[in-house]
Amino acid sequence: MKTVVSGIRPTGKLHLGNYFGAVRSFLEMQENYNAYFFIADIHSLTTHPTPEDLHGNVKQVLAEYLAMGLDPEKSTLFIQSDVPEISELYTIMNMNAYLGELERSASFKEKVKSQRNNVNAGLLTYPVLMAVDILVHKADFVPVGKDQEQHLEMTRTYAKRFNHMYKSEVFPEPQAYSHSGKLVKVPGLTNQGKMSKSGGENDAIFFDDDDKPTHKKIMRAVTDSGPEKPNQDKPEAIQNLFDLMSLVSDESTVATFDAAYNDCSIRYGDFKKQLSEDTLKFIAPIREKIRALKSDDAYLSKVAELGAEKARESARKTLEEVLQIIGFRKFY
Ligand code: TYM
Repeated sequence: MKTVVSGIRPTGKLHLGNYFGAVRSFLEMQENYNAYFFIADIHSLTTHPTPEDLHGNVKQVLAEYLAMGLDPEKSTLFIQSDVPEISELYTIMNMNAYLGELERSASFKEKVKSQRNNVNAGLLTYPVLMAVDILVHKADFVPVGKDQEQHLEMTRTYAKRFNHMYKSEVFPEPQAYSHSGKLVKVPGLTNQGKMSKSGGENDAIFFDDDDKPTHKKIMRAVTDSGPEKPNQDKPEAIQNLFDLMSLVSDESTVATFDAAYNDCSIRYGDFKKQLSEDTLKFIAPIREKIRALKSDDAYLSKVAELGAEKARESARKTLEEVLQIIGFRKFY
């Protein structure tokens, strides 16, 4: 059976980008794959969260994964820091990651700009830790959004480099996976690129927000004065709203507004109202589940414990193989 691994940093509430970029593909895969899904709490240390925020965010994401349909019986749902084998393999893999390639990573360059005062070594070697998350379970596939494509490429580089250096075949070369065949980039509402939490309060649509703020955000999204010529190309801000609509609305709804855009009769107020209505309809049942799960500490603790056990078993096997391969052989 093929293996799939994916993870999310616990930096707050999950948004539509997380769901459509990663979780949705994962939900399909958990039925037929040996599936690992985790909360990347070690990764999130690069931004120095307070202990309270960190713990609260891990709990939030755990409840959200479950509410979205992750089944802890079918897949292994775990917290990264519960698996110390990951940190051990990370130390080893760091020896084969070169400064030049790490400095060239797009996410590192972006962080150097956005958190100038906190350019720590963890940011630099972030792609190595991410590679280890994937390689420690010998994953074949990794459901991620388009923003993670380069990290996957680096993961393959590290897998190949290790295999070559030690003349082994211990690591498969994992492929990015998306259910449509194309990696997804969910746009945000403020047109700064992908939907993201760091894009400001108005950019992302969160599952665990109430209806009112979400509705307001959508209605506030910037549009323009409307199409002037039939069948003209849509400017980015409008295309982004159509892209969001195609995720949450029926095909026929999207087609109706598309036709209205093309014959210049579209009214953006109605368009956004429909987008808001369909978004809220999509989110509501998941949000109710998130809220119920967040207050069920006993269940969350059972899930985390079961996940840690299963993830450690798999990680330990790989680590033991690696230790043998590199020459850490016991004298006692
Ligand atoms: P993170 O926490 O930023 O995002 C988690 C997942 O959500 C996807 N995503 C998006 N997809 C499409 N459009 C968007 N606007 C959007 N925003 C977020 C991301 O592509 C990602 O799949 N480095 C990773 C976490 C990680 C990981 C791993 C993932 C650590 N180790 C091993 C896979 C395998 C990250 O920061 O994702």
